Amino acid sequence: MHTKNNKLYFGKYSSTTLAKKFGTPLYVYEADVIRQRYLELIKNMLYHKFHIHYACKANTNISILKLLLHLGAKIETVSRGEITSALKVGFKSKDILYTSSSVTEEEMVFVIKNNIKVNLDSLSQIELYGKLNPNGKIGIRINQGIGAGHHSHVITGGVMSKFGIPLEHLSQAKKLAKKYKLQIVSLHQHIGSNVLDSKILLKAFDKLLETAKDFSELESLDFGGGLGIPYLPKDKNLNLKLLGQEMTRKMNNFSKIYGRELNMILEPGRFLVAEAGTLLANVTEIKTNPKRTFVGINTGFNHLLRPAMYGSHHEIINANKIKGAIIKVDVAGNICESGDVFGRDRKISKPKVGDVLAIKNSGAYGYVMASRYNSRELPREILIGKNGILRSI
Ligand code: LLP
Repeated sequence: MHTKNNKLYFGKYSSTTLAKKFGTPLYVYEADVIRQRYLELIKNMLYHKFHIHYACKANTNISILKLLLHLGAKIETVSRGEITSALKVGFKSKDILYTSSSVTEEEMVFVIKNNIKVNLDSLSQIELYGKLNPNGKIGIRINQGIGAGHHSHVITGGVMSKFGIPLEHLSQAKKLAKKYKLQIVSLHQHIGSNVLDSKILLKAFDKLLETAKDFSELESLDFGGGLGIPYLPKDKNLNLKLLGQEMTRKMNNFSKIYGRELNMILEPGRFLVAEAGTLLANVTEIKTNPKRTFVGINTGFNHLLRPAMYGSHHEIINANKIKGAIIKVDVAGNICESGDVFGRDRKISKPKVGDVLAIKNSGAYGYVMASRYNSRELPREILIGKNGILRSI
């Protein structure tokens, strides 16, 4: 994304051209940004048995899955639907992880039939898996009491979280594994989402390494996702260099103590795709009341839920005229609820009806969380690649 003639461009296309050609609301994804983020992660994580399993819950657009597969990523899934998409684009079963909560027997059978690697989230899941696939290899998701994240809804460690097996229950987990002759080959944790503080990630990392010493058959350690991106102007980037150096050093030390080198897995979702996505919408009306100016656009929280659901900040700009006379406005959606507001008191270059607004950093947890609330259509998606536009399926 760049500015040319005071307009927002994606590759060689202006946002107004894209809006006209494909219609709005439109999610525009940039392959280059995904590629850069992927390479940045690889460059910083120097441990030689490091693997990226893209957490595809962030964005399951088929063209994006294909791109990440092509780049060398493996994948992390949470449902039969996500596994099906992963297999369809060509991920091999051995490269697919499945980590879910509240799993039905039917779904577990599907997972086992397809030889998908599991991170089991509870004692009852171990029991279910053991009955269905005795002698199998499993990973277990543990909750070590450390949680972090941008909102209480996405903090996944600690007693208030439904996720993982608490440390207090690990001996029971081992007993169950023994009962069904299951080998615990992986320990998994995910402390929460959009974490910008590398210290808390490293603290959880240390704790998992400590716990791992009590498991003798491990092949992998999975530290989940959660790597944050700067949404607010004041946010600082995650210190990937430090994180990479420290994780590598800690894994190397651990290998010496443990006696062999384990795979080290990260499951980034947001980090790889959030900044690659922009939601374009047209201004449909501008109205005022005695206190405020509302800019109405032709999309709403049915298409990008994050501001309404978590109070998340997404930068918004007038793509028709990036610089111009600035006005302070509330950008509101077209859903019949007062909470359908993308941002309050936003300073943007004065828009007029028909202009295109760009809501940035919408590539993760945007389209995938969209609904047809108010019986409106889902937005469209396009991926801008090196050779032009790839229309998404
Ligand atoms: N691994 C596991 C087991 C997860 O539960 C998640 C996210 C990830 C990896 C990827 O996390 P990430 O790297 O994207 O932070 N809808 C929320 C985020 C929910 C995240 C759920 N789990 C949002 O819009 O902020």
